Amino acid sequence: MKNFLNVLKGVHDSKLSSLTIPSLPKEFVLKSVHDSNIDPHIVTHFYPKSPISEQYLRLRESIKNLNKSGDLKTVAVTSSVAEEGKTITALNLAIAMTKDVDCRKVLLVDCDLRRGQVAPRLDLHSKAGLSEYLMLGADVDNILYKTKIDKLTIIPRGKIADNPVELLASAKMKDLMKKLKEKFDFIILDSPPLVPVADAGIVCSVADGVIMAVRAGGTQRGIVKHATELLLQSHSNLLGYILTNVEYHIPEYLYRYV
Ligand SMILES: Nc1ncnc2c1ncn2[C@@H]1O[C@H](COP(=O)(O)OP(=O)(O)O)[C@@H](O)[C@H]1O
Ligand SMILES: [Mg+2]
Repeated sequence: MKNFLNVLKGVHDSKLSSLTIPSLPKEFVLKSVHDSNIDPHIVTHFYPKSPISEQYLRLRESIKNLNKSGDLKTVAVTSSVAEEGKTITALNLAIAMTKDVDCRKVLLVDCDLRRGQVAPRLDLHSKAGLSEYLMLGADVDNILYKTKIDKLTIIPRGKIADNPVELLASAKMKDLMKKLKEKFDFIILDSPPLVPVADAGIVCSVADGVIMAVRAGGTQRGIVKHATELLLQSHSNLLGYILTNVEYHIPEYLYRYV
């Protein structure tokens, strides 16, 4: 893992300290969590005192430390390819943000107009969202949905769009971001992957900062390097990488405090 991060260092000097998110214990996922239809991967909600949740709090604090000047209000979560844990990271980071006493209103926007799954993971279904807003124009308030999680609002993906690149690159998207920044204390953009589609670079370029998820043991270094180049070409502000799904055992005694 150390070598992996060293390779990345040559590509981009990380502003965030490298963070690892352990893979989720099977018993967490299998357990029916309080009969709720919220995705059990959202550990910050179901298991706020677990070592994994602590890692998300660390990520929150790292972002806050970078935000001394106050101009890091929107952060996009992206990755090289699909299934690297972007959405799970975005959801857990959003909930970690809601627990910050200084953060009163947190918004998570599903900017994956092709396969976005933010709403169903929070048990919200068939809602008009970002694609309708960008296609048809609407009142912003009509696409903001309160969730079962206190202080967390989302904008769902909406209908699958035929032209996601054009929609996300439109002036309307930039204008929407401006409006949202006035309404919320912190905004997270869940993005599609960088390598297969052009959408991600566009989403990342409208954010103040970008976190790149890398699936440990899954994504090849060359692909991550390529994705980083794509991201930098889009003039996005890459804050750093987080390794997801890392297999390691955390000895119980280290966490006696929590
Ligand atoms: N920390 C984790 N531990 C175990 N599995 C995970 C973890 N994060 C994500 N996954 C698995 O990876 C799948 C893809 O995650 P997701 O966040 O939807 O990826 P992406 O948004 O990058 O496509 C999830 O459905 C889940 O099964
Ligand atoms: Mg996703």
